Amino acid sequence: MGSATRIDGKAMAARLHESISAETSRLAEQHGITPGLTVVIVGEDPASQVYVRNKKRTAEACGFRSVQHTLPADVSQDDLLALIDDLNGDDSVHGILVQLPLPDHLDEQAITQAIAPSKDVDGFHYVNIGKLTAGDTGDAFVPCTPAGCMLMVEEHLGADLSGKNAVVIGRSNIVGKPMASLLLAANATVTICHSRTADLPGVCRNADILVAAVGRANMVEGDWIKPGAVVIDVGINRIPVEVDGETKSKLTGDVDYAGAEPVASAITPVPGGVGPMTIAMLMSNTLRAAKLSAGID
Ligand code: GUN
Repeated sequence: MGSATRIDGKAMAARLHESISAETSRLAEQHGITPGLTVVIVGEDPASQVYVRNKKRTAEACGFRSVQHTLPADVSQDDLLALIDDLNGDDSVHGILVQLPLPDHLDEQAITQAIAPSKDVDGFHYVNIGKLTAGDTGDAFVPCTPAGCMLMVEEHLGADLSGKNAVVIGRSNIVGKPMASLLLAANATVTICHSRTADLPGVCRNADILVAAVGRANMVEGDWIKPGAVVIDVGINRIPVEVDGETKSKLTGDVDYAGAEPVASAITPVPGGVGPMTIAMLMSNTLRAAKLSAGID
């Protein structure tokens, strides 16, 4: 048992931003197109505000046209749908993202499905989910978090995962299910676990690739990890810590990093792993949407 390689998502994302910026300049020079990303946020959830600010900042750094619509928490379903309809018809908008979760009175599915599939840079529209599930990964807009996780897996294991057992903990539409589809498309043998799974530690011990996306701090313990496994930690949990007698908060993943690190061959840190890669994939999807709108791929 050695010490795992730390998969540096921040550095990988920075390299991606560089190549996206360069391609954005080329697109502007050769075709007169500037990729446009519009983010819609409803209400004042502090975590969502942080995520949206990061997305806007990164889009601007990549040379995109970045627009944010901030709507009051009590906006009506009809008003939000009317905004999406306007954005669908606006040629300067190539990507539309409605930040989730939405307040309870709004129908999240109806709103997500109102976004034109060609502008669905989140990959949440049924057309894109269908393409991904059918294995048409080259044509679909793939949800950003699993797409970023996959690049980090590929960096360590290559693109063909034949013969590898992959275990995904979490069955959400945003991460768990699309992650499983991507791993399957790369020929891994895939198990999806969730809160009703029997003997979760035992299932995890069989994983050559373990993806944790549950939202419970440090739930995955070191002795759940198969020696040599690649561990991808999607969790972003805020936990209280005592510093000099003061209670502060810090971010931690779903995996007990200190316990897993001596056993795994590679592991993503939190923060600095999956988070930055998610944003990089959003930029990549937006650039692609802009190119496709002009008939370039
Ligand atoms: N909330 C948490 N993750 C995401 C995401 O990937 N996209 C959107 N739209 N909302 C989110």
